[in-house]
Amino acid sequence: MTRTTNDNPFASTTLATNSNLDSNTTLTGHESSYEKQTMKAVPSRMKAIVVREYGGPSTLSYDTNVSSPELKENHVIVRNIYAGINFIDTYHRKGLYPRTLPFVAGQEAGGVIADILPSDVSYGFNIGDRVVYSTLETYSEYSLVPISKLIKTPDDIPLDVATVCVVQGLTAHYLVSSAHADLIQPGEWMLIYSVGSGTCQWAAQMAKLKGYKVIGTTSKGKVENATKAHCDELIVLDEVEGKSFANYDSVDITKRVMEITNNEGVKCIIDGVGKSTSEISLNCLAHRGIFISFGNASGVVEFPILKLSSKSAYVTRPKLLDYTKTTDELQGRASEIFQWIREGNLVISVEKEFDLKDAVEAHEYIEAGCTKGKILLKITSDVK
Ligand SMILES: NC(=O)c1ccc[n+]([C@@H]2O[C@H](COP(=O)([O-])OP(=O)(O)OC[C@H]3O[C@@H](n4cnc5c(N)ncnc54)[C@H](OP(=O)(O)O)[C@@H]3O)[C@@H](O)[C@H]2O)c1
Repeated sequence: MTRTTNDNPFASTTLATNSNLDSNTTLTGHESSYEKQTMKAVPSRMKAIVVREYGGPSTLSYDTNVSSPELKENHVIVRNIYAGINFIDTYHRKGLYPRTLPFVAGQEAGGVIADILPSDVSYGFNIGDRVVYSTLETYSEYSLVPISKLIKTPDDIPLDVATVCVVQGLTAHYLVSSAHADLIQPGEWMLIYSVGSGTCQWAAQMAKLKGYKVIGTTSKGKVENATKAHCDELIVLDEVEGKSFANYDSVDITKRVMEITNNEGVKCIIDGVGKSTSEISLNCLAHRGIFISFGNASGVVEFPILKLSSKSAYVTRPKLLDYTKTTDELQGRASEIFQWIREGNLVISVEKEFDLKDAVEAHEYIEAGCTKGKILLKITSDVK
């Protein structure tokens, strides 16, 4: 069942932040003390999803006997409650973005701080705090997280919602507010693909909040979701036969964009589809417009740089890490997102939860292009 922030009465949400952290570790609120920190909150072995060889979803192996991470300076151990599923996890699994094997999958989670060194409490975090973050190795019961990567979850934001704000939310935020390098001004046109799902569902809403005029695209099956993004114009495409994602040749997108923009083209394009749309993107750009190619859901883009010259256009291939470099930048983006959710200006949806042990199914689902909202792995039920 899809759960959206619109259905979500935050004011009345009760968050049992720190109860039942462990049978021998009952912590309450923000009152944890040195005694509590020395409790043995983290068992030596844990459950995790491990990748031992590159390949399809079946290479995700559910392992109940993985060594738990060890606490070190400037870090905390987080007991994960949710891990976010992102496309990048499939690229790590397949070896498109190579990692050293074996590794614990994932790079987004939300949970409760289970351990911190007494010397690090001065950073403003403590045992029992609800946090969300993006680092590697999150499909696991426990993760070692640099304190600089932690985002404290406000009491009025449910943890699942806060977790989904991390990768897709922060990405959408930097795409519409920074990656375009101010080559588009409020009131000008932006083209955003696949606004019926994932990062771009967020990006379209945020682009409107920032004052841009938005042309969105979506496959037919995701129209209902796409409509919630309130784009000024929505281009609806047929699906590729037998698939859940758009056939980008089913409508002449360039022609539609030129009609809408009086033949000017768009000043900015946000494109996470990649291979299937990069040519269309170049054709839809206005003079001195910027093409932000941030993803490759349909395959990697081979970019002919000479094609930019006819419009003196710009292109960038950004990544989240470079737009959350400092703690101020990370916290600033997160605070603005939480505020938009609180005010009801940003509707996000948690579409589906899979148990940790069902990570294979979760990857199959995302790779089939079925997702309409965020997919989470539920790691534990005994902490809310
Ligand atoms: N650079 C960064 O900072 C950054 C951050 C986050 C994500 N990303 C990347 O951005 C891309 C999109 O991520 P997301 O989280 O938005 O994914 P998502 O929620 O799964 O959405 C992807 C959408 O792309 C469209 N699509 C077109 N062809 C597809 C195909 N062959 N297979 C699957 N989907 C296809 C579909 O929309 P339609 O049905 O409308 O076609 C689909 O819903 C991924 O490559 C991801 O790794 C990059």
